[in-house]
Amino acid sequence: MFSSSTLRSALLPLLGIALLSLPGCAQEEGSTTSTDTADTATVDLSAPSPITGGTTDTIDSDVPFVESPQSVVNKMLEVANVTKNDVVYDLGSGDGRIPITAARTYGARGVGIEIKPHLVKKARENAKENGVSDLVEFRQGDLFKADLSEATVVTIYLLPTVNMKLRPKLFRELEPGTRVVSHDFDMNEWEPDTTWESGGETIFRWTIPEETPDFVNLEE
Ligand SMILES: C[S@@+](CC[C@H](N)C(=O)[O-])C[C@H]1O[C@@H](n2cnc3c(N)ncnc32)[C@H](O)[C@@H]1O
Repeated sequence: MFSSSTLRSALLPLLGIALLSLPGCAQEEGSTTSTDTADTATVDLSAPSPITGGTTDTIDSDVPFVESPQSVVNKMLEVANVTKNDVVYDLGSGDGRIPITAARTYGARGVGIEIKPHLVKKARENAKENGVSDLVEFRQGDLFKADLSEATVVTIYLLPTVNMKLRPKLFRELEPGTRVVSHDFDMNEWEPDTTWESGGETIFRWTIPEETPDFVNLEE
């Protein structure tokens, strides 16, 4: 089974940079950092996935499919303070584990945006198996073209360059107070409210402020 460390090492040659030495992969000065042990999984999507790897799907994506471990998913939603009143958008939703866990654990509504049709199909099947099809929805499409305005929580497990490309869109479309949670990769000068680290995994959380910071170019 793939892990996030697999994602990092698989991407090193592509990026030509040492991801492990990126600022986001070390403790952020001035941010709240906590460590603890992994939570108990509430949704069992952790078995080796037959959809990881070989597929005839030819649509290009910005990031390969690598699942966040279920313990990290649980922690991302906890760090985001998800409640049943939230609408959780996972941008690049893979097999659907983040929206499904948000629905199962918190009763939140979940929306997954995923470019790969076979993953959308798998996520819908997983939602059905977990009894949350009424609460979650998986939309096939490009996350950069999706309307994010109804989200109260956005989760991502993308790449540093993709996070930076996404950042202006988050500021343009999300209401102040919306929480953004990223697995493993930060957003450069945008300091997180919270950073959580454990067992080589890192989670960052930001909150959309009332005023857009100077370093964000909304026109990008
Ligand atoms: C690293 S996986 C993360 C999957 C899931 N969010 C998780 O944490 O387990 C990234 C996902 O983003 C999808 N993806 C990549 N580029 C995309 C794009 N432009 N629009 C929508 N989905 C995209 C990939 O197909 C893949 O499923």
